[in-house]
Amino acid sequence: SLPTVFDRPVHIAVIGGTGLSSLPGYHPVAALSPSTPWGEPSSPILILEHAGVPVAFLARHGLHHQLAPHEVPSRANVAALRSIGVRTVIAFSAVGSLQEHIKPMDFVVPDQIIDRTKGVRPFTFFEGGVVGHVGFADPFDAGLAAVVKRCAASMRGDGVVLHNGGTIVCMEGPQFSTRAESHMYRAWGGSVINMSALPEAKLAREAELAYQMICMATDYDCWRSTEDVDVAMVMKYMAANSENAKHLVGAVLDELCKHENSELVLAKHWEGSAQGAVKFM
Ligand code: ADE
Repeated sequence: SLPTVFDRPVHIAVIGGTGLSSLPGYHPVAALSPSTPWGEPSSPILILEHAGVPVAFLARHGLHHQLAPHEVPSRANVAALRSIGVRTVIAFSAVGSLQEHIKPMDFVVPDQIIDRTKGVRPFTFFEGGVVGHVGFADPFDAGLAAVVKRCAASMRGDGVVLHNGGTIVCMEGPQFSTRAESHMYRAWGGSVINMSALPEAKLAREAELAYQMICMATDYDCWRSTEDVDVAMVMKYMAANSENAKHLVGAVLDELCKHENSELVLAKHWEGSAQGAVKFM
């Protein structure tokens, strides 16, 4: 059993989604279960040592994938990460493709989000006397996106395809979209669709974190009228792509752990962006 305390701040976190519920090959040195005013996180936070730098790993859907997208305790997850010192989050998600050229197993580094959640998930830290507003025009961190793109480019020889930029439609679920909705999202300019980008990205912004999602396409949703998405299809492509996903995380962590990127990782550029309104410790 691992220690339940860790004596240094951990600045970098990976949130694993469907098909990336662990990071094998890394040496865990602690398993933390911080409780927060917003409840318990989805799973214990594993602390891994990567090139001498501690990295936090959190399984968004729980250790046994027991949490549906609308059940993920996003406020507890973000608050727990922030409370152990995290400033940078790389978040993974399986997505449906809304574009012909984004094929199953391709990666996408989105730069925009369209919110199609239904307001049923707790979506803000700003309530109960804490009044604040944050800019969300660009929901992701461009510096982190640049690192991910560079890493994927160096893996092109291994068949890794990564699309730079794109709009992710985040829907409520847990049901998949109707065909009419799927066509509408394409008309809106959506690139990919998932159920997990929000409220996570909004809460990360309120917590003044640098946040970038990496999407892995698992299906063409239902607009393409060949094979409609189902869970088996998502799982099949996730399994087929998990080696590439793990290599990509490893390369991104290699990069983020370099001293020359410490400024980016510490996210000074986001400090004060939410007026430091919420206290996370
Ligand atoms: N996650 C993976 N594929 C998806 C799809 N087609 N719609 C919503 N979420 C998804």
